Amino acid sequence: MQTIDVTVIDQEKTAVAHAAAARVEHRTIVGLGSGSTALKLVDALGARVADGLEFVAVATSEQTAERARRWDIPLIAGAVPPHIDLVIDGADEFDGGLRLIKGGGGMLLREKIVASAAERMLVMVDHTKRVDVLGAFPLPVEVVPMARARVKHHLRRLKLAPELRRGADGKPFVTDEGNVIIDCHIGCIETPDALAGTLSAIPGVVEHGLFLDLADEVLMAVGETIEVFTRG
Ligand code: 5RP
Repeated sequence: MQTIDVTVIDQEKTAVAHAAAARVEHRTIVGLGSGSTALKLVDALGARVADGLEFVAVATSEQTAERARRWDIPLIAGAVPPHIDLVIDGADEFDGGLRLIKGGGGMLLREKIVASAAERMLVMVDHTKRVDVLGAFPLPVEVVPMARARVKHHLRRLKLAPELRRGADGKPFVTDEGNVIIDCHIGCIETPDALAGTLSAIPGVVEHGLFLDLADEVLMAVGETIEVFTRG
């Protein structure tokens, strides 16, 4: 079995977060993603703000917002603005078509809303996130709580091996929007577009973690090197 050196991964996340932070331009509106790489991005941007960079941010989670506030990064509160210049976010998997699985941290709904409002989406990943075919990472599906049993039944009939996500306390994990997450252990998603359509059509499903036409560029750290993947 392949072993993964967590120290190397952490160093790669730091390196790619700094590379992404260098892309933020003065006086722009920037979407800040969620997850451990995104928190490193916020830290790197905080250092740039201290050096005089001015921008306003839209956070995709309470965790990211809290980190941004620590650095005095100005945040747009409330409704997501209709136009964001750039969103920078992490991912759980990406393939050769820059299609993503996101939502490992459970923030996929806000992440997708912010990404859809952004002119460009830049993704930051360590070297373990590159896959030939999406689906080894369990696909998160965000569901209205009262629909969870019905949706899980539906997903089981589709043979998507659904499992309700639970927190460390054993209780169902609750998203920032008050919904629950059902993780689908699919293994190999041969037709992501069709699956995205199927999931979106299930009553009670709020959003799913397939980000298919959103990423414009992926920065992937491999050791100390940053590899750049661009759309098409
Ligand atoms: C959170 C996400 C994250 O971007 C994804 O899980 C990657 O996280 P990390 O940077 O910690 O590896 O989609 O919902």
